[in-house]
Amino acid sequence: MNEIKIFSPGTVANVSCGFDVMGFCLDNVGDEMVIRKIDQKGIRISKIEGFDLPYEVDKNVAGISALAMYEALNLDFGFEIEIYKKIKPGSGIGSSAASAVGSVFGMNELLNRPFNKTELTEFAMKGEAFISKSEHADNIGPAIFGGFILAKSVSPLQILEIPSPIDLYATIIHPQIEIKTADARALLPKEVSLQDAIKQWANLGGLVHGLHTGDYEVIKSSLQDVIVEPHRSKLIPHFNHVKKAALNAGALGSGISGSGPSIFSLSKGQETALNVKDAIEKIYSKTGIDFDIHVSKINTQGIKILN
Ligand code: HSE
Repeated sequence: MNEIKIFSPGTVANVSCGFDVMGFCLDNVGDEMVIRKIDQKGIRISKIEGFDLPYEVDKNVAGISALAMYEALNLDFGFEIEIYKKIKPGSGIGSSAASAVGSVFGMNELLNRPFNKTELTEFAMKGEAFISKSEHADNIGPAIFGGFILAKSVSPLQILEIPSPIDLYATIIHPQIEIKTADARALLPKEVSLQDAIKQWANLGGLVHGLHTGDYEVIKSSLQDVIVEPHRSKLIPHFNHVKKAALNAGALGSGISGSGPSIFSLSKGQETALNVKDAIEKIYSKTGIDFDIHVSKINTQGIKILN
């Protein structure tokens, strides 16, 4: 096999209480990429459609992660990457992670899988770190592993796969404004109070427990972020209004997806997730801000081959 086409999914990082450590994978939102073996050594990006992104390999997240993997090998041929970008950069649903993961996953498949998922996550994190100025795996991890993951440690990298109850659905609104992850990180406080930390780790533990046991009430009471959301929500127009409407429509919880501006809600059952979508749509259609809105099952497979 000399060429592979893949679907690289969008992801929701943080999941309210799990800043930088928790994330899950979306089903119907993602990029497509083609990875091809070429005679010429090295990595080249030959096509980018959808958004205006750099073709220079060392400035493009897909190129940077591909290079990290390529340099760990000793090959007498190279790879060419085509990117069909569907996830808008700066959307908060793992746009850079999808690019970073796509190239390394595709190369690994063409090489008959010399690397495992944890190693692929490590290579992809190099691309993500270039954009966000920080190494975190809460978008990369779910894109590669699927489902929910907890990035227990980045050095050494330890990804724990967390099961998701079958009836859990996400509703994601993506207001068409851009928030750069590096900017959204820069406004966070360097220190937090012990009181807030206690609430946050109790919620994260509760969320992990609720996902393992399928206890929707525990999931609901745990989807709270007392540390990051109060700062970042100011960057997202109508955030509080949207969150309130989602909860009133029956969502278990609602919060900022990654570093925003997307807002995720989790619901028990597709019908509730669709009601949440309607409620949010009603609010945002009056704001004059363009938006996309999706309902997605939790994607337990992660990145996949299309051909
Ligand atoms: N955990 C990261 C953040 C995800 O919220 O900054 C976005 O890359």
